[in-house]
Amino acid sequence: MQKIVTIERFILENQPRTAKGEFTNLLYDIALAAKVIASKTNRAGLANILGRAGSTNIQGEVQQKLDVFADDVIFRLCDHTGRLCLMASEEHEEVIHIPPQFEKGSYVLVYDPLDGSANIDVNVSIGTIFGIYRCLDHDKRGRLEDALQPGRDLVAAGYVLYGSSTMLVYSTGQGVHGFTLDPEIGEFLLSHEDIRLPEPPGYYSVNHAYYTQWTPGVQKFVRWLQGVETMPAKPFQLSERYIGSLVADFHRNLLGGGVFAYPAEKRKPQGKIRLLYEAAPLAFLAEQAGGYASNGSSSILDVVPTALHQRVPLYIGNRKLVEQLEAFIAAE
Ligand code: AHG
Ligand code: MN
Ligand code: MN
Repeated sequence: MQKIVTIERFILENQPRTAKGEFTNLLYDIALAAKVIASKTNRAGLANILGRAGSTNIQGEVQQKLDVFADDVIFRLCDHTGRLCLMASEEHEEVIHIPPQFEKGSYVLVYDPLDGSANIDVNVSIGTIFGIYRCLDHDKRGRLEDALQPGRDLVAAGYVLYGSSTMLVYSTGQGVHGFTLDPEIGEFLLSHEDIRLPEPPGYYSVNHAYYTQWTPGVQKFVRWLQGVETMPAKPFQLSERYIGSLVADFHRNLLGGGVFAYPAEKRKPQGKIRLLYEAAPLAFLAEQAGGYASNGSSSILDVVPTALHQRVPLYIGNRKLVEQLEAFIAAE
């Protein structure tokens, strides 16, 4: 019989002996936020909270009410715990400081509170993405520089998928582990231990509507994924799947193998995906699962952010597929 392992037990059993619990407890905080957000998203169609909040975020995108709610839950669960020196959220123009009355801790939390929010109104999977860095400044005042760290320096990263079930998938640099929420008992239970990107890959995910906006190398790559371009030989057949929620698309490809691409476009040379809240945390998970994430020429994890809301072209999934994309782009 399989053991039943809660996320709490798993985190505790896997923390280093020297750990003081600050980091471990931060992971619990995120798991709790995930439960609160999951219970709200599950009732979203009932609670008359759908529709637009009437405000736009700093990137000019229409904010849904659930984005605001999720952002607020994460902030209010994490601001007073003494574990963080700073937060940065996709929904805030500037870094979020820990209110002066609270103690400050050693970590920085960056997050996309609700990813794929355009899918809320149509009852399609959405998610939360997070990354955890060490605070650089010893006084723990928390400054912009603490948030602008490359993905390579992530201490942990993960996502929550609000899908047909709620899952929390994370890595602290020792493999990628997935937990499924049992809503009746309110616990995340270990369901996917040590996830590895399978071979051969099964899927590719890209928004084909932008084909004419891509550069020749990206176009060639997508034709190669489709089997139209036949060199180099590709001894497997892929299916195309695109949900439009990065978390959901990434999760499916993580379990089934494949590649997700949000390429650079002529009108948007940096693509759409945000480096800090989306690309870097998922790149960390991809590498931990045996895969790779690239901006088209080098690892996403090596890109040093210069601005909080920086965007980056993203190609992520099984290493050989992403490296083939880099080869097509290099030969453009
Ligand atoms: P967010 O809802 O946090 O703004 O992210 C939406 C992103 C991402 O989840 C998804 O992969 C992408 O937007 C889809 O964009 P297109 O509709 O342009 O394909
Ligand atoms: Mn997002
Ligand atoms: Mn978002």
